[in-house]
Order: sequence, then C-alpha cells, then structure tokens
Amino acid sequence: MSVTSTVSLKKTKKKKESLTSIIAKEQSPDLIIIHANQLVTLDSKYGVPRIGDEMQNLAIIEDGALAVIDNRIEFVGTTEELFSFYTINQDVLVIDASNELVTPGFVDPHTHIIFDGSRENELEMKLKGMSYLEILNAGGGILKTVKATRKASIEKLVENGKKILDRMMKFGTTTVETKSGYGLDVESEIKSLRAAKILNNKHPIDLISTFLGAHAIPPEYKNKKEDYINLIISEMIPKIASEELAEFCDVFCEEGIFSIEETKKILSIAKHFGLKPQIHIDEIVDTNGALLAAEMNVVQTGHLLKSNDEGLKAMAKMGVIATLLPGTPFSLMLKDYAPARKMIDLGIPIALATDLNPNCWTESMQMIIALACYKMKMTPAEALTAATINGACALQKQDQIGSIEIGKKADILIFEVPNYNFLPYQFGVNLIDKVIKNGKIVFENIF
Ligand code: NIG
Ligand code: FE
Repeated sequence: MSVTSTVSLKKTKKKKESLTSIIAKEQSPDLIIIHANQLVTLDSKYGVPRIGDEMQNLAIIEDGALAVIDNRIEFVGTTEELFSFYTINQDVLVIDASNELVTPGFVDPHTHIIFDGSRENELEMKLKGMSYLEILNAGGGILKTVKATRKASIEKLVENGKKILDRMMKFGTTTVETKSGYGLDVESEIKSLRAAKILNNKHPIDLISTFLGAHAIPPEYKNKKEDYINLIISEMIPKIASEELAEFCDVFCEEGIFSIEETKKILSIAKHFGLKPQIHIDEIVDTNGALLAAEMNVVQTGHLLKSNDEGLKAMAKMGVIATLLPGTPFSLMLKDYAPARKMIDLGIPIALATDLNPNCWTESMQMIIALACYKMKMTPAEALTAATINGACALQKQDQIGSIEIGKKADILIFEVPNYNFLPYQFGVNLIDKVIKNGKIVFENIF
C-alpha cells in the first residue's frame, strides 16, 4: 500500500529530505576537508574557458568544505553545510584546513618532459648574448637534446620523466600535457610517446600526449626539409594515430623552422588522422601564427610573444586558447613577454604552462603564476584561473578537472597560506601543504 498519495505535498518534501540524509549517512565519505579559509572552487558554470572579467571570478567559499568518495568530489559547500549533510565516523579522513587555501590541482597544458640530457652549459652562452636560434644553429638547443634522446633507452626516458613528474606533483600539478619532439625519426618519436604512455599508466599524474615531430629539422634532413615533412605526414602521423600514442599534434611554426604553409599541411593531415591541432607560434618572430591558429581553429596555441593584433583579434573571435609560457622569455632573458593584458582585454581565453624543456626547466606552476603576475601583469586571480580551469579547457578536459565541483576528479591542493594572493606574493618557495590526486594524498610537505 502506498502512503505517499495520502500525505500532503509538504510532508512528501520532508520525507524526501530525510531520505537524502539517510542515503548521505549510509554513504559516508572517504575524505573531507573542512574549515578552509578560502576554498577556491572555480566552478565551471561557464562550461567554456573563462575570458575577460570572468578570469577574476574564483567562486570562493569561506570556511569551505568538501567531501570525496572514491576519486570523485561528492560535496562542496561550507563546513556547517557539510556537517549537516554527513555524519562523520572515525573511518573518514578529516583534513582541517584552518588558515589555509584550498584550490583545484594545477593543470600544466604545455610541456616537453620526454628527453635525455641537459643544457645547463647554454646559460653562459645566453649570458654572452647568443640568441635561441644562434645556439640552435651552432648545434646546441633542440638538436643537442635530440642527439641524447635518440641514444637513450625507453627505460631511461621513463626514469627521467618520472623524476620530473614527481617534482611537478610536489609543486601542485595534477595533470600534464607532454610532447615528443626530441626523437625526430620514426623510431625515436614512437619511443618517446611510448615512454609517455608508460608514465601515464604508472604515475599518479595524468599525462596527455602530443606528437611534435615537427619540432626541428633533424641533421640528416638538413637541406631536405620537404622530405622530412613527408616522413612526418606519411609515416609518423599514421603510425602514431593507429597506435593511439597521442591525442594532439603540435608544430614549431617559426622563421627558419616550419613555415605557415608547412604547418598547415602537417596539421591538416594530423586532423584527418584524429589528432587535435596545437601550434607553437610567434615566439621569436611574428610569422602571422596567431591568424593561422584562428584559421585552423586549434584548441590551444603556445608562446605568442610577437603576435600581431589582427591575429589576436581572430583568435578571440574563434575562442582559441592562448597558452602563455612566461618561463621561456625568463630563461631566454628576453625583455618582452606575451601581452597578456591586451589578450584579456580582447577576450582571448588564457591558460598558463611551464613549457618545461631543457631550455626552460621548471616543474613549478607556482613559479609560472608568479612570472605571470610580475612579468605579464596578470592579477593573482587571473593567473590562478589560467593555471587551473583554463588549462583544463586547453586540453579539452574541463568536464573532469580544473575546478572543485561535484562529480569532478578529486584533484585538490591545500596550501599553507591564508589566501590566493599569497601564491605569487610569496615566491620562489613551495607553498604546498598537501596534494590530493584522484582522492588520495600523494604528497605532504614537512615544515
Ligand atoms: O616551446 N620553442 C620550441 N620548443 C620548445 C623548446 C625546446 C628546446 O629548446 O629544447 C619551447 O620553448
Ligand atoms: Fe613548448
């Protein structure tokens, strides 16, 4: 016999509420965080990257709390609301974040972590005034790393990558994109992407792979660039796509490297094989890369130090994400950085990334946030947005990561500072207290 039909609407509603709390009590969370001084949720109500003034809106909850079941976020609200929703027994891991800042895990959407060797010797060359392309043409730069990476075993590349990912995680990064591009032959490019796949399977950090065979012209193709492009198009891309070794395809579009036309050709084939396009553009010279990025409607495009206004406006129109990499001009000792303020005013969505590579070696998104503020005049809120939800959008993973919302992966950072302004303010040190990846504490700082 049904009783529901005989009770008033008010009573039915009450019954529903008590049923909710019974379910909630039965399904006790695995972990809760309570009393966060600031819980930066960055909730993705926009569903698309934040642009313009939206980048300032961190959707902060004071005395914030959240609950995790398994690897997912199940509740977000104030501490008081959490305690009225759940009964907490002794099996629940309770983290008191009083006086602390809680944010989504950092997303680093542009890196090159698969390589062997190092290039610390180039620092003195740079100090003497040698440019990036001069060092490259003298056999250093990318080509030096290619030599070492070709010789390295896949195990060595995995070992190197693991060290980098371990450090990234300690500094708060929970999702990373990485590129090949130091192999530049079929076998070594595939070896690099396989190394990335192994790392993704064995490391807590989620690693998303990009094929960057068009990173430089390898020495054996020095005066035969056309032949190398044909190798990329006819052998590398089909093999990589059929083995599902990459999600994206990138090209270093730059004067003296790959031209606009060559970039178009490579990315059109990549698109045909199901790889999503990205481009390194206008890093050293304005080659009209921004316009190309807009024309090809790429997901994200990196560097943009020299991009012209027409190209930037076209990017804004198409919603192409500008992934700004302030670590690169910093390590190259350049005066100019990407014009972030102009881009924000134009409504271009901005993400931030480390661009970790042997020329620009930092694992720290905290460092990048500081550079974004001090060198590109982004506000702390804009920089944090760019390092989380907009980074997730740059990888088309915003339905899973980048914000603290019910149903998303429990990738959460707890910082030993009271508010988000501290992230760039107290620079050059690791402000992390705890890193939670997929609902588990994967790093705890000892003070
Ligand atoms: O994004 N500029 C091209 N590629 C990398 C650097 C690679 C290297 O110098 O090893 C970048 O900065
Ligand atoms: Fe790069």
